[in-house]
Amino acid sequence: MTEASRIHCSRLRERLMPAEEAAALIPSGANVGMSGFTGAGYPKAVPQALAAHIRERRERGENYRISVWTGASTAPELDGALAEVDGIEMRLPYQSDPVCRQKINEGRMSYIDIHLSHVAQHAWSGFFGELDIAVIEVAGITEDGKLIPSSSIGNNKTWIDQADKVILEVNHGQSAGLEGMHDVYYGTALPPRRKPIEMTQPDDRIGEKYLLCPPEKIIAVVETNAPDRCSRFSEPDETSNAIARHLLAFFEMEVEKKRLPENLLPLQSGVGNIANAVLAGLNEGPFSNLTAYTEVLQDGMMAMLRSGKLRMASATALSLSPEANRELTDNIDFYRERILLRTQEISNHPEVIRRLGIIAMNGMIEADIYGNVNSTHLMGSRIMNGIGGSGDFARNGYLSVFMTPSTAKGGAISTIVPMVSHVDHTEHDVQIVVTEQGLADLRGLAPRQRALSIIENCAHPDFRPRLRDYFDRACASGRGMHTPHLLCEALSWHQRFEETGQM
Ligand code: COA
Repeated sequence: MTEASRIHCSRLRERLMPAEEAAALIPSGANVGMSGFTGAGYPKAVPQALAAHIRERRERGENYRISVWTGASTAPELDGALAEVDGIEMRLPYQSDPVCRQKINEGRMSYIDIHLSHVAQHAWSGFFGELDIAVIEVAGITEDGKLIPSSSIGNNKTWIDQADKVILEVNHGQSAGLEGMHDVYYGTALPPRRKPIEMTQPDDRIGEKYLLCPPEKIIAVVETNAPDRCSRFSEPDETSNAIARHLLAFFEMEVEKKRLPENLLPLQSGVGNIANAVLAGLNEGPFSNLTAYTEVLQDGMMAMLRSGKLRMASATALSLSPEANRELTDNIDFYRERILLRTQEISNHPEVIRRLGIIAMNGMIEADIYGNVNSTHLMGSRIMNGIGGSGDFARNGYLSVFMTPSTAKGGAISTIVPMVSHVDHTEHDVQIVVTEQGLADLRGLAPRQRALSIIENCAHPDFRPRLRDYFDRACASGRGMHTPHLLCEALSWHQRFEETGQM
């Protein structure tokens, strides 16, 4: 497909219009489903034009706001631009935009943070209301009106199905060679009509290469030529390298004990620098013929595909640095044979994750001594990003690993605390906790054994004696020996940080 001819369907070519005109078709109060997942495949022109439109209307004294439903986080052109003009009434699901975060924490924007695998079915059930409009980025439109998905799929299938009207952004900046990399499954349903999802290997194809949309729903087509957000990763540092080393040593031991096969099990890796460092470690490590069944494919996995360590990867989005994106575009045929992009209801599907036996590796904000994990909130009340897919993978994976440096904010904060200030993953869903200090394997341990393992293996030496002291006094208090706590002290570390800037 040439750059000049991304819209092959003549009927849809007639709906071409500037972004400003398309944005004006979105009324105040609308529920709008937008494409976009971890900074990939989000519409770039219409949201910015809408933000300008909202600003103008606001200046005329009108209160103009919409609700934004996406796949996951997007970018400054979407979340940032709309939040900046106070244009978002309600946002769901995962976001990571600093302006959104501020508005949510100031109470000026509602935020529904749910498991990514739940979003589609909650939308079908109408829990969020009716979906008025979908704004979806695609890489092209075929002659018969099929939509070539772009660098993410996320909830696009659901938004297109559920919305009354659809606006398409055809982005010439996305590689035309993405065509054929997608697997869009059209078999999901609500109970009691559900059928088994016929996938037993991460590379099984179960769906279509294209998104399908009745042409009469499409009210506007906008052409763009802009790159995805493409954030850069920082180089792995000593802390993230140490976390990677502990995890790799653990995997080697698990293989030796025959609890994991030699090529491990399909990998899920969360976003961020630590996850990337673990992937870099795996790329250097002894394992080969690996597979990935994950939601986001980032630079680390690209490098593993290139080296051959990773045989294939299934995801819902490509979240790449500019360099990795160039590598993808320049070698798109190579990567198309090794990458499958699916809808997020499938990439994060509990049934598939459980069947494939995923090794789930996610970042966290803090863990407590019993293994409860907080992935989302700072000091109990302020949202950081959201739960994303971490719950989908941690609860249903074969192994659930949570990783973090043992301290934050230059050592002022211990990420191992007596009691987490917010719980996303309970002690029942957390099997391995890793910091640069070491790794705690919580499988088969009772709560007090877990506490000792986490304190001794994962806590920073500056905080370890105080955690031991807390635990000993909680045990001695006689209040209950199953999960000993001193309730008046359990959250005092957070309180102290709020008051003094130091835990
Ligand atoms: N208390 C307060 N602040 C903390 C903290 C703690 N215990 N731990 C980390 N932070 C702060 C850091 O200082 C940093 O703040 P800054 O940007 O102002 O410096 C910020 O939180 C992010 O920390 P960082 O160590 O850079 O984390 P990260 O990039 O590895 O991300 C999560 C960690 C938990 C925020 C991230 O993994 C996340 O959002 N997870 C939830 C979603 C998820 O797991 N998805 C996985 C499927 S893709």
